[in-house]
Amino acid sequence: MAVRKLAPEELQPESFVFSPENEAFVDQQIAKYPPGRQASAIIAVLGKAQEQAGGWLPRKAIEAVAARLDMPVIRVMEVATFYTMFNLEPVGKYFIQFCGTTPCMLRGAADIKKVLERRIGDANHIPSNGTFSWLEVECLGACSNAPMVQINDDYYEDLTTENFEKLLDDLEAGRPVRKGSQIGRNRSEPFEAVNTLQDPSLYDGSLVGAWRNRFEEQAKAAETGEAAAALESVPGKAGRPGAGRAIETGAADTPAERAKEGETPINPVDRKEAADPSTATKGKSHTEEGARPAPQSSKSYVTTPSKPEGGSPVPESPTTPEAGTPPAQAETRRDGSESKPDVVVDKDNMTS
Ligand code: FES
Repeated sequence: MAVRKLAPEELQPESFVFSPENEAFVDQQIAKYPPGRQASAIIAVLGKAQEQAGGWLPRKAIEAVAARLDMPVIRVMEVATFYTMFNLEPVGKYFIQFCGTTPCMLRGAADIKKVLERRIGDANHIPSNGTFSWLEVECLGACSNAPMVQINDDYYEDLTTENFEKLLDDLEAGRPVRKGSQIGRNRSEPFEAVNTLQDPSLYDGSLVGAWRNRFEEQAKAAETGEAAAALESVPGKAGRPGAGRAIETGAADTPAERAKEGETPINPVDRKEAADPSTATKGKSHTEEGARPAPQSSKSYVTTPSKPEGGSPVPESPTTPEAGTPPAQAETRRDGSESKPDVVVDKDNMTS
């Protein structure tokens, strides 16, 4: 984006005063907001000042807006220089905002731009006759009718190099021009035949009637008890209080159950719990017991050098338990100490 700054001093008018009609407009805008919040009207008031000044905002107009809204001039300047809809330099009688965003480019905007450059010159340049000036802008929200331009307050869409040249000719000669689509399409309708929403049932009420009939039949069925009968026929749900609720089942992984299945409990605490039916489903955690029990497996954590001499790093984590280590132990540590594994010597398998 080009640097946005005020026009050179030689282009600045000596004064700016709102016309009586525009003064009334400013009062109307300010009245929309609570007392003391008149600054909220700034966009509308700047827009009106630009309109009165001939399509751009001279310094004096910005100062007049600041005075009218009881704002510091710099605050108004910030708004005027931020929004590209406010022109800070004079524009032609017909100010063309050319959309150069992707949908328009895909539909031939590059050719439209060539016409502008050939007939008017560079962007922001006003030829000696002052008729046109143009500026490339981002999407103007008429992508479905791309490519398009905005000239003063109106959109001109579905442009081709031919119809755009003619449009400029007509504007220059003062002839009436057609706003909107230049190929005669109605708003954003398809180019050719309109082939959606053509089903007469959408409009004669019969489609709505079918839906209504369905709901009425369902209501009738419920009244006559057919709905209840239908529910009775669902296996496992008929005649039971609470039918349809989730079925609660006992815990499936207690030490007692593991012992029953012939699995080895993971440590003495669990062995004790497994032998005591009164604690069978409590699932007491080891942290509640205080000290952390020693591993029970004859093969537990083993140390593995991360970088063996002369070899490549071993991808396996040094804390990876060997096969057979109960998951309860492997998942117990979550405090960062897992990076410093306990070294447990396998006494059973030690050789001298
Ligand atoms: S891209 Fe041109 S109007 Fe949206």
